Amino acid sequence: MGKKQQITLKVNGEDWEVDVANNTTLLDVLREDLNLIGTKEGCDDGSCGACTVMINGTPALSCLTLAVECNGFEITTIEGLNKDGPLEPMQQSFIEKDAVQCGFCTSGMIIGAKHLVDNNPNPTDEDVRERLSGHICRCTGYVKAIEAVMDGALKTRQSR
Ligand code: FES
Ligand code: FES
Repeated sequence: MGKKQQITLKVNGEDWEVDVANNTTLLDVLREDLNLIGTKEGCDDGSCGACTVMINGTPALSCLTLAVECNGFEITTIEGLNKDGPLEPMQQSFIEKDAVQCGFCTSGMIIGAKHLVDNNPNPTDEDVRERLSGHICRCTGYVKAIEAVMDGALKTRQSR
């Protein structure tokens, strides 16, 4: 496992110090050290999108990210989206549009979708499809997820 080193992370606005090995992934730190189990481990090889979190404001696959590379970084997980209040519009839309079945893909999709809408408040269907293309959902097909993201975009515009 090798020698451990201490890193600091700001996760969902909270400062953490964690001891990690050189090969520890950010996903493992989030789930095992910080107990933020909303971020899911699907494939563990970068192909499903379930482990997507925001790293310094950009969606990234936490299963492919070494924790040591994140020293001093800001991380946002699904738990951080509604930490101090009601659900984010995008979370609400996924529920209302029935886009959540087993929920395994949901956190990653919502993190990706929120980033899309924050940067492109009025996305086209094509923009949404492209954004969701890195996320595998085995349950719903993608129709409901696309509807949810479009609705989440609308709700986000209305809330601003
Ligand atoms: S668990 Fe990271 S991409 Fe699948
Ligand atoms: S809701 Fe089950 S994998 Fe997407």
